[in-house]
Amino acid sequence: MSSQLMVCSGKEQLAQQACDWLLRLIGQCHRESDRCFYLALSGGSTPKRLYELLAELPVGTVDWERVVLIWGDERNVDVASDESNFRMVRESLLDRIKIPEQNVLGVPEPGGSPAAAASNYELLLKKHFSDAMPRFDCVLLGMGDDVHTASLFPETAALEENDRWVIENYVEKLDCWRITLTANCINAAQNVAFLISGQSKQDALQKLWHGPMEPLKYPSQLIQPTAGQLWFLLDQDALGEVAPPANASLINCG
Ligand code: 6PG
Repeated sequence: MSSQLMVCSGKEQLAQQACDWLLRLIGQCHRESDRCFYLALSGGSTPKRLYELLAELPVGTVDWERVVLIWGDERNVDVASDESNFRMVRESLLDRIKIPEQNVLGVPEPGGSPAAAASNYELLLKKHFSDAMPRFDCVLLGMGDDVHTASLFPETAALEENDRWVIENYVEKLDCWRITLTANCINAAQNVAFLISGQSKQDALQKLWHGPMEPLKYPSQLIQPTAGQLWFLLDQDALGEVAPPANASLINCG
């Protein structure tokens, strides 16, 4: 699996480079077709600054009428909860741009039955894609210190789901339910990009790239795009002395 590594000096430059990179992808899609760009957003704290930078772009830089936003995963909490990924994106991005409501595909009614939220989300996505796996233009991902990504946590049932696009996942160590895209759904994307920042991620990167192939233990190892491009957008703190993975092309952002 080849990958593109973009190494930035720090968190702010990471967000800036990720923003420029995403603008290039969106611009290419909009120049080459008349369709919408499908972007699956990551939760967590790392991408928040990226979302803020997208919101701060001069009006017209992004044709939001032709961007559809999806959530790669969601906590099974009300959208008003401070745990909600939807709320984090709403505050950092949605409240500050003009994007058609129908382009914002959040998980329907999280906080109730996790199974219902997951199956309803999958039905919503299937209105936009034929019944083959959806080929999102870009899936943004974070990675936890335990090498989880999206809400694909170690030793959880969702890791072994092969057919569904979206699934509910009970995370015992957090004692909570999550709704997440499955690894197969993520891997169908055209571009899959990990945004990783901070020294605490060095050990997880070492395991991801150089540890034994044990995806039940290291779920980010499941992310291997079927036909798309895998990206790692990192800051130097996250990379540290970890050797890049084999077949990686290194793009140094200074
Ligand atoms: C979530 C995310 C999760 C996150 C990682 C990294 O809902 O929390 O989907 O997978 O991306 O835990 O989180 P940080 O960016 O906060 O380190």
